[in-house]
Amino acid sequence: MFMQFLFVLLLIIVASAAYAGHKGAPWVPTWKKDMERVKRLLDLQSGDAFVELGCGNGRVTRHLAKTTDVRHAIGVELSLLQWLVARLQSRLDGTAGKAAFVLGDAFKHDLSEYDAVYLFLMPEAYKKIVPKFEQELKPGARVVSYIWPIPGWEPTVAEQPEGASNIYLYQRPL
Ligand SMILES: C[S@@+](CC[C@H](N)C(=O)[O-])C[C@H]1O[C@@H](n2cnc3c(N)ncnc32)[C@H](O)[C@@H]1O
Repeated sequence: MFMQFLFVLLLIIVASAAYAGHKGAPWVPTWKKDMERVKRLLDLQSGDAFVELGCGNGRVTRHLAKTTDVRHAIGVELSLLQWLVARLQSRLDGTAGKAAFVLGDAFKHDLSEYDAVYLFLMPEAYKKIVPKFEQELKPGARVVSYIWPIPGWEPTVAEQPEGASNIYLYQRPL
């Protein structure tokens, strides 16, 4: 019975990771050396609400919860294993009071309350999420995208350094 339970759990874990990889992107973390660049561009103020769409192990969300005055930092993740790791690490590093992790589909998560959004998904997913951003994000909300630009949007800042990762900042019109 226990072995059957383990087998089913393993199946769910593998299936949810494969589904997330297909829906948005497989798990590849933001480089640690880029986290301060992401933080600078997000420019989180006290009272801001932040969300990371497809947060993986929660590295970025936890870092921001720990080092900024953000009101709350939410990570949304579709892969069960990554979500569990994010929650566990958040308990271990003391960010659990400020960072929270939602198991679910980023494309269905309501974005209307957030001041700042971070995402690192595949270009196809960026294309797909644009209408949702345009419909739900509030005026002035900031969006930072890692590696790829958001199609059809003019970045406020485009960092494209030689030999390092591209990062783009966008701001919704006021
Ligand atoms: C390229 S990784 C980036 C991880 C993390 N944002 C970081 O930068 O370290 C993409 C993550 O998004 C998750 N993902 C893909 N599609 C998703 C979706 N539709 N909703 C929520 N998470 C998704 C994947 O499981 C994976 O962990």
